[in-house]
Amino acid sequence: DEVYYYTVVDSTNQRAKEVAKPKTLFIAERQTEGRGRYGRRWMSECGGLYFSITLPRDLPIEDVPKLTLTTGVAVAKALRARLKWPNDVVYNGRKLCGILCELFGEIEDPMIVVGVGVNVNNPTPPNGVSLKDIHGREFNRLEVLKDVLISFERYYFKLLNGGWGEIRNEWKHMSETLGKDVVVRTAKGVYTGRALDLDGDGGLILDVGGKIVKVFSGDCFYA
Ligand code: BTN
Repeated sequence: DEVYYYTVVDSTNQRAKEVAKPKTLFIAERQTEGRGRYGRRWMSECGGLYFSITLPRDLPIEDVPKLTLTTGVAVAKALRARLKWPNDVVYNGRKLCGILCELFGEIEDPMIVVGVGVNVNNPTPPNGVSLKDIHGREFNRLEVLKDVLISFERYYFKLLNGGWGEIRNEWKHMSETLGKDVVVRTAKGVYTGRALDLDGDGGLILDVGGKIVKVFSGDCFYA
């Protein structure tokens, strides 16, 4: 309902947690403390798109992993890119967009923030790629934001309305992870195997030397 715009900010996810108001958009030209998964830094120089949305309280908490994957499908669709498990939007194996969904607030009444960073015209790290790199021209970030938000809204409502099965199928079609030999680093250990399928709850199903293993979250590398 409301928009907070910053020319420079620590992290839009951080602002979202502090303001703690559902249905609010936080957007910044650049971030000084942009964060990725596992507390990593997310390079956030001028020219990129960095935003966070707080959601209304109508998604069950156990659906947050599905929300992350759903956001990935929505962004990948809007940017005509592909997906790498669990939540990277990629183009030819390089990262075009990162997604960080976090729970915060009271334990009995948590809120959800969805943070999205898209490389648009900004310089990227070596494993990254920007829309400008891909298409050889600068992009209007407002247009990119509009496309991504429209797509996100569509998929978010689909998720709320029992559309997870369909979203999961779309994820599988847009995935560049399935069928590949991967190494997944999780809290429980490192698994090397072939990525077979996306499970109903968002986990990745692996064939590890003939044994079927399911991983819920972690870092995925191509072997
Ligand atoms: C990842 O790939 O590990 C997730 C990166 C998420 C980056 C976005 S940029 C906007 C929002 N604010 C942050 O500090 N992080 C997210």
